[in-house]
Amino acid sequence: MNDWHFNRPQLATKLLKVFEVGISSNIALIAPRRKGKTLFLLSDLAPEAQSQNYIPIYASLWQNMDSPHEGLISALEEAVHAIATKSKLKQLLESKIQKASVSNELLGKMDIEFSGSAQKAAPSDLIVLDKLIGELVKLAKNKTVLLMIDEVQHLSTSASFDPLAHALRTSLDKRQGAVKTVFTGSSRHYMNLLFNESKSPFYHFVDQVPFPDLEINFIDFVRKKLHEEYALSFPIRPLQQAFNDFDKSPYWMMKMVSHLVTFENRLSEAVDYTMVVMEASEGFFELAQAMKPIDIIVYKTLCEDKSPFTKDVLAVVANETELKGIASNIQRSIERLKGSNIISQTASRKYHVEKPGLRKYLEDI
Ligand SMILES: Nc1ncnc2c1ncn2[C@@H]1O[C@H](COP(=O)(O)OP(=O)(O)OP(=O)(O)O)[C@@H](O)[C@H]1O
Ligand SMILES: [Mg+2]
Repeated sequence: MNDWHFNRPQLATKLLKVFEVGISSNIALIAPRRKGKTLFLLSDLAPEAQSQNYIPIYASLWQNMDSPHEGLISALEEAVHAIATKSKLKQLLESKIQKASVSNELLGKMDIEFSGSAQKAAPSDLIVLDKLIGELVKLAKNKTVLLMIDEVQHLSTSASFDPLAHALRTSLDKRQGAVKTVFTGSSRHYMNLLFNESKSPFYHFVDQVPFPDLEINFIDFVRKKLHEEYALSFPIRPLQQAFNDFDKSPYWMMKMVSHLVTFENRLSEAVDYTMVVMEASEGFFELAQAMKPIDIIVYKTLCEDKSPFTKDVLAVVANETELKGIASNIQRSIERLKGSNIISQTASRKYHVEKPGLRKYLEDI
């Protein structure tokens, strides 16, 4: 459903401006799973960058989960080949769009988001990596290389990847100015380890830029397309409500749209169908089973962007659970939620909800 992509040119321009005015050469975009990060890099940022004298190169550290250096090296080799033979870089990016869409269908629960047997990169591989980055800079001539590294949090999920992280940082440091980077990742916990822990080679290397949720104009785009191309007419409000129920994940919104288009069902049926698929694919049942009553109260409070330490919440805990309504119980609950990656906490101490759709699931059971 390529033609369903809602372009975000302003966001792309805004990020490139950060490079242009010299605020930073390295940016990290962080947002939960299935919020449209990869597609934004490939379909919005890359074309905009290309029109502004950059050579955009995309690499995912999940291309090879056990040996992320191999994924990175092969993406850089492909880019060298594409530039050197003048075959279009654009084609390469388009093939990555196809790949991203396919892999979206394969990814499910958190447990496959870690390498089963993490491999250390050999020193010779790391030399190749550095050479390739150097070669790209040379081939780019008067243009700037824009290196987009996706699933970068993977670097901090195993100590075996430390040599790669060190080598990448050193290699990028050597090319200050000639290479700009955009890192993306979905686990705020692991992104934090990578960018905010003093021991990490990427400590203070990037400026973290929020990746905003899609807004009402995206819903309106979907509504118009359904109406104009499929003769399916819906008011904007219930479509927006559906998007909110999916915690603003375009992936689940598109799942619902494809159901609507295929079966021409009522909207409410398509929403219910999508919620069922979402629950199964994200393992909500298992997650909810593992949550204690206090965890559910704390989680719902955080979903509303409220503090779980207020008198009101403590009273709810005291009334509705067997626990005392005291701060230390809330704190323990927060630690449990963090431990199972249902929420995360960034350096600014702010809590973030990591499981799109779980809130609605908990409300409905
Ligand atoms: N701008 C958009 N317009 C329409 N649909 C979109 C848009 N962005 C993303 N999508 C839909 O959401 C799906 C997931 O997007 P994408 O792979 O970019 O998310 P992600 O944040 O990278 O997810 P993950 O963290 O799992 O890698 C896409 O396959 C597409 O169906
Ligand atoms: Mg992605």
